Amino acid sequence: MDAQVQPIDQINQAALEIKKKLGSLSPQFGVILGSGLGGFAELIEDKIIIPYEEIPDFPISTVEGHCGRLVAGRIGERSLIALQGRFHYYEGYDMQEVTFPVRVLKSLGIKGLIVTNAAGGVNTAYAPGDLIIIEDHINLIGRNPLRGKNYPELGPRFPDLSEAYDPVWRKTASEAMAELGITPQQGIYAGLSGPSYETPAEIRYLRTIGADLVGMSTVPEVIVANHGGMRVLGLSCVTNMAAGVLKQKLNHREVIETTEKIEKTFVALLTLIIKKLDD
Ligand code: 6GU
Repeated sequence: MDAQVQPIDQINQAALEIKKKLGSLSPQFGVILGSGLGGFAELIEDKIIIPYEEIPDFPISTVEGHCGRLVAGRIGERSLIALQGRFHYYEGYDMQEVTFPVRVLKSLGIKGLIVTNAAGGVNTAYAPGDLIIIEDHINLIGRNPLRGKNYPELGPRFPDLSEAYDPVWRKTASEAMAELGITPQQGIYAGLSGPSYETPAEIRYLRTIGADLVGMSTVPEVIVANHGGMRVLGLSCVTNMAAGVLKQKLNHREVIETTEKIEKTFVALLTLIIKKLDD
């Protein structure tokens, strides 16, 4: 059984505590930084750093490569909040905990969310190090963060997900990629619970049903962001090819090594996208 949707009081209380520390900054965008992609936060100007421990009811992240703090500030003319460290279902958090930060961002008045992740390449045309714009997702986690009582103040009972990843923002991201000399590619992200990687048979199945990428995050946050009426952009870094694509076995070290190699490009892309997004 999942717990009920996080009471609105808890969401607003967490937002209030953050607001106190932001002073005059009112962030336009939220950015969730995936495994190994946290380096983007270093580029934020006029940084206000809030460790998750200081935010009431915020979960604490447990995986290495995820550091657990909120970094608010500016990129050029744009104001934003970056979350360094996210909460995964496989860590044992329930869906309400996994998506609590998105609810809090929404409560802070943020209307747009950029979600990033490390993903396995299911599409054999991909290569490790590729950056892919998420076109759509397939929820195979077996859970939905909106199960339970619906609070109409947070969003509708049966939210539409037909444009879960904003088409205009995807186009902007494509243009930013082209400007940086990166071939723009869009793909379908299959979200699974993990923490084991998939078997080769599961990867063949995912390819058959139309997935290009596979990962263990993002889907819950994107569902909740859409529930709250936020615009969403999703970016995946292909850290490794999924099981059965290559002869080699999968390991978490490869995931980290690829994100380290791509980090500079990823940071440049994210910065350019943020400058170009319409709000
Ligand atoms: Cl191959 N699978 C999943 N579920 N998540 C991943 C991955 C693969 N590679 C990076 N993250």
